[in-house]
Amino acid sequence: MRSASAYAPGRVELLGNHTDYNRGVVLAAAIDRGITARGSSRKDELITLASDLAPGRVEVPLADVRPQPTERWANYPLGVVQQLQRLGYHIGGFEARISGDVPAGAGLSSSAALEVATAGLLMKLHGLQIAPLEVAKLCQRAENEFVGVRSGLLDQATSVFGRADHVVYLDCNSEDVRTIPFPRGFALVIVESGVKHSLLQSQYNARREECAAAARALGVAALRGVTPEALERARESLDPLLYRRAAHIVGENERVWRAVDAMQSGDAQAIGALMYASHESSRVNFENSAPELDQLVLIAQSIAGVLGSRLTGGGFGGGTVTLVEAQRAAEVLEQIWNQYALRSGETPAGFVCRIADGAAVSWSG
Ligand code: GLA
Repeated sequence: MRSASAYAPGRVELLGNHTDYNRGVVLAAAIDRGITARGSSRKDELITLASDLAPGRVEVPLADVRPQPTERWANYPLGVVQQLQRLGYHIGGFEARISGDVPAGAGLSSSAALEVATAGLLMKLHGLQIAPLEVAKLCQRAENEFVGVRSGLLDQATSVFGRADHVVYLDCNSEDVRTIPFPRGFALVIVESGVKHSLLQSQYNARREECAAAARALGVAALRGVTPEALERARESLDPLLYRRAAHIVGENERVWRAVDAMQSGDAQAIGALMYASHESSRVNFENSAPELDQLVLIAQSIAGVLGSRLTGGGFGGGTVTLVEAQRAAEVLEQIWNQYALRSGETPAGFVCRIADGAAVSWSG
């Protein structure tokens, strides 16, 4: 009987909101919070799953892997099993236990971390060699096809390819992944609004539909193919809602490219300005913010040592990411807490994040 464990981090999206499924570009980083899957192989043909993070124990025959209506957390690992089976890998019976510290519903991709950790565990238990990009993609398919969220590649790719003190640049058209040093002397503060949107899945999928409709109206295969100039030329003939959705995606791609230049020249001020602009575009164009997130960004903006702030991840709730001067990070977090509590009566959770290595670092080590 073999035993193994695998860890995968959550991620924070810095810029490039909802661009991934539009074949656009994204900047994100792996964080120092993650999910561990520990397990061992079994002699029979069963999968048993348990989690320290959610109640319930799941037992599923290998030959009949199907979505669980009650223990929904188990659908992420089970979706990964199904994808590996579809790719023709022989997966034997196994038991696994999940643990971790990525807050769920905070926009930090606990789900991708769970998928990637499961893939890592199964690769170790079965001696499978799968290229890191393929791992990210099969985990994405697990989420799309088994869980039913039509998300892009951002979360899984960042969890796989993250690198300490670097941001991950992902081009979802060419599938090119690069890491770029994060500017020295700056840090990221993450604040969870505590708003968990029950309609997240349907609203996320609805935005995806709207982006596809905008692309069709503009005569391109995906919004990646639209320049800011072409969008402005088409404005009059485009449905105003589709125009706003497209403006967000086109603008986000531009902001990612500008931020890459700013990262390379160490211009944190410019990156911060792009983050504010991104949030404003989420609020107005993509309408995936929430009053609590707007409030958190406004509060951050009023605090000394803050360079930029925006919602992170899918939106409609979740959390914000704030770029700060490193030596003021703890103080900024406390001030955001205090001011938010004063205005809303709620105490948000949050932490100063360390940019960490992704899962592939441990696979290759
Ligand atoms: C969620 C999805 C990602 C991405 C972001 C928004 O995190 O899982 O694929 O679309 O939202 O950028």
